[in-house]
Amino acid sequence: MDKIRIVGGNPLNGTIPISGAKNATLPLMIASLATADTLTLHNVPSLQDVVTLSRILGNHGVDYAVAGRRPGSQRTHGSTVRLTASEIVDTTAPYDLVRRMRASFWVIGPLVARMGEAKVSLPGGCAIGTRPVDFFLDALSALGANIEIDQGYAVASASNGLVGNRVTFPKVSVGATHVASMAAALARGESVIENAAAEPEVVDVAECLNKMGAKIEGAGTRTIHIQGVEELHGAEHTVVPDRIETGTYAMAVAMTGGKVRLEGARPQHLEAALETLKSAGVSIEVDDTGMTVARNGNGIQPVDVTTEPFPGFPTDLQAQLMALMTKAQGTSSIRETIFENRFMHVSELARLGAAIRLDGQQAFIEGQPTLQGAEVMATDLRASVSLVIAGLAAEGETTVGRVYHLDRGFENLEEKLSACGAQIERLVA
Ligand code: EPZ
Repeated sequence: MDKIRIVGGNPLNGTIPISGAKNATLPLMIASLATADTLTLHNVPSLQDVVTLSRILGNHGVDYAVAGRRPGSQRTHGSTVRLTASEIVDTTAPYDLVRRMRASFWVIGPLVARMGEAKVSLPGGCAIGTRPVDFFLDALSALGANIEIDQGYAVASASNGLVGNRVTFPKVSVGATHVASMAAALARGESVIENAAAEPEVVDVAECLNKMGAKIEGAGTRTIHIQGVEELHGAEHTVVPDRIETGTYAMAVAMTGGKVRLEGARPQHLEAALETLKSAGVSIEVDDTGMTVARNGNGIQPVDVTTEPFPGFPTDLQAQLMALMTKAQGTSSIRETIFENRFMHVSELARLGAAIRLDGQQAFIEGQPTLQGAEVMATDLRASVSLVIAGLAAEGETTVGRVYHLDRGFENLEEKLSACGAQIERLVA
């Protein structure tokens, strides 16, 4: 298995181009199931999750062409992909495919809306929490689908089509908001989604669905109004820049010191994280096409943060912030409120010399003057990049194992960091 080797201590200086957002790309690809026409997506990042989802969609009959070629024939660096589901050949998403990536469960929305049936494997366990699918099933049921659980599969049927209705989520869920929006877009009549997720990726997907002929208003707020249409058509859409990748590199610069321009970043998509970084002593200059993050000789100040749905501090930056706070001049606290098991990086950070105490869903991080390089193991996507951030500032050599987690969601990570002066390389097994 590949590893990442880092020799810490170099400041980061230069420019990092921000890729298209993984968490927008995946639902945008899934939206292709909702039309028989071609959906063209630009700025699709080259990520393992994109490859995995292309296979899952292929199983349903989606023709997936990368810049005119087939998957695997070239790297999909910020590429244009064309997805055409002219005919859905299979409405079943089998366990073997769904278990590889939780978001593939989301195909249930467009499949049942367009085909009147979908049989999708329940995703099963996940490293960061139990992550049930009850909100999805309740939403589809409110829209008139009959839902049954049969031998590990969610079976949704609506032979006469879905019918618009009010869907109220008990808790904000990004995935359930995507699925309810896609399903309601093709339901008869009007739907209102209450307590909807307002993440920039939800807005990006709604904008794309509207280009496809949907009538969605209010995406980006807690209440979304959708007027159902009979069918959707093809469209062309550019994936929004990745706010989590942006925040990750901003924290890396905060950790190592130096000055890096994040080209293409949209600061308005991560205001809470940027405010946190500013109070930690980081300078952030925003311009028309990105932003520049810098930290000079001053140390990192401790912060107290709670993860929240957008516009709050994102859970997907929690591990990276914790890595940064391991070197703060004082004690920080981070409370995780979205997932119940998202502190697995704590014991790995401790291997680098971090002093972190866990109290339920809250972590107290006592900043240390130095970290020491060590061998560590990635446990999930964001946890693994937090180990990279810590390794960049640790004394000596750090190797991060199980880097397939990183490949799921960070495009050209080693290239982007080494172009800014980091000593980082992939050791291919
Ligand atoms: C999305 O996951 C992201 N994934 C996650 O990114 C992100 O951490 C998460 O939103 C929160 O921002 C993608 O967009 C592909 P949720 P999602 O439904 O939609 C509970 C990453 O590293 N819940 O918003 O699966 C759930 O357990 C990842 O890129 C239910 O109880 O997350 C959690 O506690 C990981 N029942 C909370 O809601 C349900 O039916 C919010 O989860 C659905 C969710």
